[in-house]
Amino acid sequence: MSDGSALGRRLADLHRSLTPAEQANLKLILGLSAGRLVPDKDPGSEQGRRAVSEALEILCPYDVADPRGIQYRGRPDFLTGDVLTSLIDEARDVGRTAVPFDEHYLGCGGPIADRIATSRELADVVASVVPGAEATGIASYLFYRDPGQGIIPHIDTDIFSLNVLMMLAHEIPQGPGEPSALYMHFADGTEQRLQLTPGEVVIFLAGTQAHSRTPIRAGERVTILTFGFMPQGAPLENYRR
Ligand SMILES: [Fe+2]
Repeated sequence: MSDGSALGRRLADLHRSLTPAEQANLKLILGLSAGRLVPDKDPGSEQGRRAVSEALEILCPYDVADPRGIQYRGRPDFLTGDVLTSLIDEARDVGRTAVPFDEHYLGCGGPIADRIATSRELADVVASVVPGAEATGIASYLFYRDPGQGIIPHIDTDIFSLNVLMMLAHEIPQGPGEPSALYMHFADGTEQRLQLTPGEVVIFLAGTQAHSRTPIRAGERVTILTFGFMPQGAPLENYRR
């Protein structure tokens, strides 16, 4: 029982034996551990990395063929040019009062984003790739504006256990250097870089898949809109802010 995957199964077994409050604490610990371990290239971290990743995969609340990586990438039909423009306009308004939050600015949704958050069109796109997910109705605008802002590898809280992430705008300055990008981090130490263009949407299981955004540089700006989904039938109070 010394290899990481056996340890991962034991962690998942432990999770099943706990009360809901204890489960939430264990999930938090696993999430924090994943944030440090999963992107760590040190061979000494391999056992821990595999154990945490395996436990999170087993605990993934969605029934998909492969919970790793992204479940969808594309431009959904409902996101017409007009809708995208109206969201970019709404983001501009929301951005004026967005508050600094960790390594980005956070703005709650607006009327247009909130309407999409509970729309049939968005639910259909999610259902086509991840069965059994239900909208939380929570939409958030995220703004990366100051040089160095980004998000280190992490696992999201339960209200974003399924994350629909929509790229609205990405201003990239001239000069050398790679633009900021979304990354997925995997148990074997590999990663996937996702350089999204405005209007592109990705869906991933953010509650169990470690992900990050590399820091922006001077003159770079990224505006994102995210929608949170939860497992169908989950007690809503666990998923509301
Ligand atoms: Fe996240």
